Formats: sequence, structure tokens, C-alpha cells
Amino acid sequence: MKIRIHPSILNADHEQMQAEFDRVLAAGVEAIHLDIMDGRFVKPVTFEIETIRRYTAMCSLPFDAHLMIVQPERHVDEYIDACCSLVNFHLEVSPDPAALIDYLHGRGVQAGVTVNPNTPVDGMLELADRVELVLFMSVYPGYGGQRFIPDVLDKVRAFKRHCVRRGLNPLIQIDGGINTETAPAAAAAGADTMVAGTFIFRSGDYAGQVRALRDSCADVTANW
Ligand code: DX5
Ligand code: ZN
Repeated sequence: MKIRIHPSILNADHEQMQAEFDRVLAAGVEAIHLDIMDGRFVKPVTFEIETIRRYTAMCSLPFDAHLMIVQPERHVDEYIDACCSLVNFHLEVSPDPAALIDYLHGRGVQAGVTVNPNTPVDGMLELADRVELVLFMSVYPGYGGQRFIPDVLDKVRAFKRHCVRRGLNPLIQIDGGINTETAPAAAAAGADTMVAGTFIFRSGDYAGQVRALRDSCADVTANW
């Protein structure tokens, strides 16, 4: 088995998105990570729905929508209808995550839940058997290019142990400051899905960076 790589297009060149999608597709990534920000849960505002519709039509890969928005239950339909195949929301702003997960499944998409670096793992443990993906933020959301927060790996380890004991297999995704130093540490803790933004899009060689990320985790994934 190998790690999954979901490039975050936050810092891609949005003037030439078709070429950017073609390049990461050719580099062999498994999905596209969309960082959606509403200016309320986090300060910046990112992609409008129209942009997302255009983007999902440009690329055959699955789109994993990371909703950094308040009241996600009011907006998930927009991302489903814009052809995102996985919708992932923050537990910090969800009054009834189990109901929203059921709703996403009822609409035929995969469900993910996310916690910020300072949010305890407990809420994720309770939902481990209901979701296809959990995301542990390794930076405080809002911007790409931040430094990785290693303390987050204690939560990843606890979550992975919980899943092994119960035979559960949601994807364990980590997002923020992922590179060839931090990816192996995250993989060793149990993360199998890496979101990388600047490590890929600030480089001139997307295929080389994807290969470097996979190679950096090879010692860990050899035992998977
Ligand atoms: C939240 C965003 C970022 C982005 C990746 O701020 O979710 O974490 O995806 O950031 P870098 O550039 O650190 O890979
Ligand atoms: Zn993200």
C-alpha cells in the first residue's frame, strides 16, 4: 500500500487551472483537495460555487471538499451539486455531525469530519464508524504554507489505535505543512492521506514532488 496524496489547489496558479489539473493528474495523485473558506469560520474567502463547478468539469479526479465554513449543514448541497464526491466539515461548527453524515450519505456522497489542532480527538472517535474520511488539521486553517504542528500526531495515533481495535478503516487525512519531513512522521502515526499545497504547487516539478512524498514514506508504508 502507499499513501494517498490529495493536492490542495489553494496556492495553485488559478490563471492556468486546466494545466495545473493536468499536471497533478499526470503526477498520479488520488484526488483534488478543495479548501473552501467562508470568511467567518476562517478569515479568507476562497472558491465560489461557480468556480468549483468549472473546476470539477476540468478534472476527472474525485474532489474532496474541505469545508472551513460555519453552518455546514446549510451549504453541503451546493458542493454536492458542484460534483464534489466527498464533503468534509468541521466538528467545531456542527451541532449534529451524525445527522449531517447521514444526510451526505443519503445524497450519495462520501462524508468526512475534521478537527482543528486544538480540538480533542473524542468527537472523531465517536464518528469513526460512520465516515469515509477523518481530517486532522496540522495547522490552524486559513492559509497554505504554515508550519506543521507535531502535537497533532498524538491525536492521529489515538484515532488509529481506536480504528485498529475496532476493525475500522476510514481514510486518515492530515492537512497543513506536509512535506518530505512531516509526511513520514504523519504516516508513522497512522495518517494515510496527505494534503499538500505549497510543497507541490510552489515547485516546478509536480511529478517529482509527488514521488518524493511517496518515497519519504516508503519505510512506513512497506509495513502497511
Ligand atoms: C488550511 C488549508 C491548508 C492547505 C495546505 O489552511 O487546508 O492547510 O490545504 O497547506 P500547505 O501549503 O501547508 O500544504
Ligand atoms: Zn484543507
